[in-house]
Amino acid sequence: MSEGILLPALARGTLLARAERVARLEQALPQIRAALDGERDAVAIQATLACLLWETLTQTNWCGFYRRVGDRTLAVGPYQGTMGCLRIDFDRGVCGAAARAREVQLVPDVSQFPGHIACDDRTRSELVVPIVAGGELRAVLDLDSPHLDAFDRAEADLLVALVADVFADAAF
Ligand code: SME
Repeated sequence: MSEGILLPALARGTLLARAERVARLEQALPQIRAALDGERDAVAIQATLACLLWETLTQTNWCGFYRRVGDRTLAVGPYQGTMGCLRIDFDRGVCGAAARAREVQLVPDVSQFPGHIACDDRTRSELVVPIVAGGELRAVLDLDSPHLDAFDRAEADLLVALVADVFADAAF
């Protein structure tokens, strides 16, 4: 058991097979939704998600948020993992691409992504989910892994649905 939610304990860095990763995330999601039930403060939601997704997604070395703080600027928000870059322009990196296009970025090999920002040079793959509320890009959920191809479309789809739910009524 891990501390915040009930899941089998796994060592940090463990990359499960795709089906097992999806099953673990599906086991965690009702618990994550329950933990956030009724919460509307965006930072409280982001901090709790960073904690609980970090416990769930053991393949990550960075799990957290960049918040929109200007027309085309993101600033780091609540996260778990190694130190992240503080600011990211919309023109740069995987997070910038997600913010600009408002589309999920699933990058199996960051060395093949033009302009990838190496905050931690051990990162090999990345998944970024944009958070849009009230018609505005508010933040991105950034997940990085030291493993190649550590994220799957099915995980991305589950996370898109999660953030749509938990930020639907959030005050940013
Ligand atoms: N790799 C990201 C930058 C954020 S950090 O790695 C935490 C990017 O290219 O957007």
